[in-house]
Amino acid sequence: MRKVVLMLLSGIVLLACKKQEVNIIPVPMQVVQEKGNFNINKSTRILIDTDDSVAFKVATYFQNLLKSKGLILELDKVVNFPDLKNAIYFTKKGFVDSLGVEGYMLTVNTGNITICANSGSGYFYAVQTLRQLMPMGFESANANYSRLSVPCVRIIDKPTFGWRGLNLDCCRHFMSKDFVKRYIDLLAYHKMNILHWHLTEDQGWRIEIKKYPKLTEVGAWRQLADGTEYGGYYTQDDIREIVAYAAERYVNIVPEIEMPGHSVAALASYPQLSCTGEPLKVETNWGVFKDIYCAGNEFTFTFLQDVLTEVADLFPFPYIHIGGDEAPKYRWENCPKCRARLKSQKLKNYEELQQYFISRIAKFLETKGRRIIGWDEILEGGRPHNATVQAWRGMDRVDSAVFAGAPVIVSPTSHCYFDYPVDVIDLRKVYSFNPIPDGISAQQKKLILGGECNMWTEHAPQKTVDSKLFPRMLALSEVLWSYPKVRSYDKFLERVRRHYGRLSNMGVNYGFEQSAVKVNSQLSADAKSITVSIERGQENLEIFYTVDGAEPTTKSIKYKKPFVLKESATVKAVAFLNNSRVGEVFTREFVLSKSTGKNVKLGFAPATKYMGGGLQALVDGRKGTEAYNDGIWQAVQGSDMVATVDLGKSQPISTVSVGFLQSNPSWIFIPKQVDFFTSVGGTDFTLVGTVLSPVKAEDEGLIRHDFTLNVKGINCRYVRMVACSIGNCPDWHPAAGSPSWLFADEISVY
Ligand code: ACM
Ligand code: ZN
Repeated sequence: MRKVVLMLLSGIVLLACKKQEVNIIPVPMQVVQEKGNFNINKSTRILIDTDDSVAFKVATYFQNLLKSKGLILELDKVVNFPDLKNAIYFTKKGFVDSLGVEGYMLTVNTGNITICANSGSGYFYAVQTLRQLMPMGFESANANYSRLSVPCVRIIDKPTFGWRGLNLDCCRHFMSKDFVKRYIDLLAYHKMNILHWHLTEDQGWRIEIKKYPKLTEVGAWRQLADGTEYGGYYTQDDIREIVAYAAERYVNIVPEIEMPGHSVAALASYPQLSCTGEPLKVETNWGVFKDIYCAGNEFTFTFLQDVLTEVADLFPFPYIHIGGDEAPKYRWENCPKCRARLKSQKLKNYEELQQYFISRIAKFLETKGRRIIGWDEILEGGRPHNATVQAWRGMDRVDSAVFAGAPVIVSPTSHCYFDYPVDVIDLRKVYSFNPIPDGISAQQKKLILGGECNMWTEHAPQKTVDSKLFPRMLALSEVLWSYPKVRSYDKFLERVRRHYGRLSNMGVNYGFEQSAVKVNSQLSADAKSITVSIERGQENLEIFYTVDGAEPTTKSIKYKKPFVLKESATVKAVAFLNNSRVGEVFTREFVLSKSTGKNVKLGFAPATKYMGGGLQALVDGRKGTEAYNDGIWQAVQGSDMVATVDLGKSQPISTVSVGFLQSNPSWIFIPKQVDFFTSVGGTDFTLVGTVLSPVKAEDEGLIRHDFTLNVKGINCRYVRMVACSIGNCPDWHPAAGSPSWLFADEISVY
């Protein structure tokens, strides 16, 4: 009996000592948790210093937030040394200047809370931290509290980067006004401060422009296959409402008005803006289209300046994004007006014409007190006037921008494209993102403003956006905000898992941290075997796999530990939860041939954007999948591909083979032909055969084709393949005249 009482007593003591959880994303620079809690109740007062108008603004936001959760608190102005008993006090007194504009100090004692900052955003971020210290149920829509317990803490915090953004594409799929506001809340909650709002595209124009009503009468709607109209737009009143909503949450909105490319919706509305003047329809397909604004036509500039005048009136932030990416020059090259402009401006090429175009717009916007941002293609004809660059095609584009002296926003496809599936960019990968490239100077580092994640919505209607952005946006928020020394992926992951309850209460339909099945492989040092290990996306999943290409079921081999392949094999694996299949079957072809793991020399500069497999990707034993962005393919744009494998010593060979991919909407074409050469000494190469492609450039869908040649009887040490590109995208192609891509993987020699 005594023992039972003692056990009960110790339980009570334990309960009393158990600290309320502190779980904040992004993790603050310094957190010290103290014993005890502060209880916010109906008699708690919110206090601000009399003369602090920004504190008044944030304190009012906080008061309204608590009111929406059932707690109505008084907000009072105070002077000098106020009575802080049972108070939440917003003050500048005691602020440490090195915490900068967005930094704050938050102290929760058992008797009061002090929020110390030097700006509205500092106060606001302290409130967001305080909000994450509240009980989990605080985020439920129907939360109704008469008392809120907050753990005692001392937090000192400030961001690493000033630009922490999300690019939301509301063009490929229209997103409702409430959905956009909800994302402003989600950004603010995670201390992100930029909504880059992609508002014009080939597939839809989404912003009302009073002077050009057809932009929304015509340009905001595309016709679906069943004849229905799909689309929508934001009225200027909607936009003013959203901008005000964002301002209250310290989120700045950067509108993106695309030019000169990605503009078919505008050209469909006003055909006189294009080079041909011919009628066009708002695009219904995804891709890059050759019809762009005519650079030789003065009306193009009149129109864009009128549009941007209205845009600048609606959006107060100093930056306006003008796109500038993926603008094929085919129409300009074939347009008398564009050619005349090239001549009159003494320009060397059509990249320079784009530079002229964008500089002219930048100079116009400067008269409105605005600066432009453009995607990294804007550097191709020389840096346009005072432009900030958004680097997307790879970290090397960050280098190019800083070398050109341009401020940069970093959002590479490798880490920041959250439209990509989670098996290509998983949570860990996002967390490993470093916006600062190696090898730049301290001075150049200052040009790096921060980063953004890109949420392109070709394949993501509104209802799927949450599952793509979360939990990956949590990782980005921490990369951009948190002090590098306090960051650790394992600790972050623990916090993410404790944060899910809050996201669920907010109605966020978050997705996976990684694919349900993740297949890893390690080639042995002698390149004779491959060890395959499989990770599950969640602990409670069971994985079944096959190695003969058959569809895996619960009757296949259950994965328990890594297994070894001693010959080429197709591994298929799938996850089950309580006997129900979760997600897609994962397929990976492994190759073990005479060339696997040998040295390969490339006679081309592979695109860093796709180079996840490194320089040896062509012989790493893993074949690229149907996803061109799986990080396994080796790719090049606008050139043939030459690769030479050194087998290490002369030996008889019987077959040589190399695989290629075609996905023509993405400008990726199977080569016209592949020539194979061999050599014994590595200097004189003999052509041993040419394999022609059976695939036509027009052939649709994802096509993988292996070019294979029988070379029985040949003895050699070196094998070279030369793949002949089809050249520029053909005339029928939406990006006619633009350099096409070759995607190769894997070179096998038997
Ligand atoms: C882009 O993804 N075209 C910027
Ligand atoms: Zn033209």
